[in-house]
Amino acid sequence: MTFSAMTLLEAIEQRHSVRSYTDQPIEEEKIKALNDLITSLNLEGNLNMQLVTDEPRAFGNVLTHYGAFSGVANYFALVGKPAPDMHERAGYYGERLVLEAQRMGLNTCWVALTYSKSRSRVSVAAGEKLVCVISLGYGTTQGHSHRIKGIDKVTKVNGEMPDWFRSGAQAALLAPTAVNQQQFCFTLNADGTVCARAKMGFYSKIDLGIVKLHFEIGAAPHPVKWQ
Ligand SMILES: Cc1cc2nc3c(=O)[nH]c(=O)nc-3n(C[C@H](O)[C@H](O)[C@H](O)COP(=O)(O)O)c2cc1C
Repeated sequence: MTFSAMTLLEAIEQRHSVRSYTDQPIEEEKIKALNDLITSLNLEGNLNMQLVTDEPRAFGNVLTHYGAFSGVANYFALVGKPAPDMHERAGYYGERLVLEAQRMGLNTCWVALTYSKSRSRVSVAAGEKLVCVISLGYGTTQGHSHRIKGIDKVTKVNGEMPDWFRSGAQAALLAPTAVNQQQFCFTLNADGTVCARAKMGFYSKIDLGIVKLHFEIGAAPHPVKWQ
């Protein structure tokens, strides 16, 4: 990526949900770079993610009791074929897009509820499903930090916690989750593998994919072996 030298971990630290955007258009080269990334991630993750630009209708006049959006004219649409792991994959690969966008100086917010599916300009083929969208653009602010659970609430380790595992869990705690529920748990198994589980909660399977990506980035260069 030529736009910034920001690392993925710095992107994790600087990212916050932004729901209000300026009318500054996204530069063509950034749109192209994001579309190239989408093409390769769709192949890797067996998804049909799309970038929709210059389309304000999906976020226009939505009466909402949860979050308030303004000025949204661009969004990623996360589309895939229903499968047991589709939501987790949407979370993992959608968050790859979020972090790359952050590295480009753009802001984002995951959105499952507060937008209009029917007015969005997304291609959903027969046999596919629109999982959720992610707003994208230049924010009027950079957002602010969310309330963060204690690391003991989201980890299980017998004995001393290795540094890589702690950094992974800390990066996961900075992740966006639906209504900031942070309903996940990472367990370190005796054989060194890690078990990641989503507890009950809204969209917690999407959250699980998101936090697994953050955990891998936080734990690097230690390669995480998932159970
Ligand atoms: C799967 C998912 C769905 C979300 N849906 C919405 C939504 O419909 N409306 C909204 O305003 N925010 C939504 N959010 C954003 C969360 O409220 C936000 O990520 C959380 O409060 C943590 O704040 P942060 O992203 O600034 O760290 C969603 C987040 C996730 C991960």
